[in-house]
Amino acid sequence: MTYKGLKMGHRGALAYVAENTIESIQKALSFNIDGIEIDVHLCASGELVVFHDFTLDRMTNGTGEISKHTLSELKVLNVNEQYKIPTLQEVLDLINKSCLLNIELKGKHTAAKTCEVIEYYVGEKGWSYNDFIVSSFQHHELEDVCKLNKNIPLAVLTKANVAEAIEFAETIDAKIIHPNFALLTLENVNLAHQKGYKVNTWTVNDEETIARMKSYGVDGIISDYPDRI
Ligand code: G3P
Ligand code: CA
Repeated sequence: MTYKGLKMGHRGALAYVAENTIESIQKALSFNIDGIEIDVHLCASGELVVFHDFTLDRMTNGTGEISKHTLSELKVLNVNEQYKIPTLQEVLDLINKSCLLNIELKGKHTAAKTCEVIEYYVGEKGWSYNDFIVSSFQHHELEDVCKLNKNIPLAVLTKANVAEAIEFAETIDAKIIHPNFALLTLENVNLAHQKGYKVNTWTVNDEETIARMKSYGVDGIISDYPDRI
């Protein structure tokens, strides 16, 4: 049976091309997907950059905290020896409304700039607020987005507890929760739905688990292998 939920690439298409790069996002777009998940940090010169880790060491030839480097310092680095760290705007220009973008606020103090960028793309570039989901494990960042712009769809990330995620979601008017797949059962997905929440789960990679998540009726699946959903 065809899956009606959202098929989303994790950090682009992590399994195929270095995560959170333009090339990884291009790879994800080459599949039949509905959305792409990326991570953002605020760098020292004030731009949002698309990168997972708080430090540069694992993925680049640089070292230290990403937030302590300016954009020009970051742009000379190589990701996995051949790619560049993109800005959020470069990713938005690439996607150009062709699918939904899930921006995970990974770094601190990312909320205000994310709102500003989204507002610009909605106001000037023809995007709609429903083309975005802003998610985070960091409650402060989600609270800040909620205070700044009530139109931006918010999702509460959790790897700990579905009920607690819903409890917090109520306080920021979020309509979506993003639990790790290991937390999910048919019962808690049904309960979330009864309470009016959508459930998008991550990072679901093997075919058997993808099928199980679909059988629970989740609203979206985020995978390193978006082509498998
Ligand atoms: O947004 C879902 C997932 O990406 C959260 O975990 O560590 O992959 O950013 P992580
Ligand atoms: Ca992420």
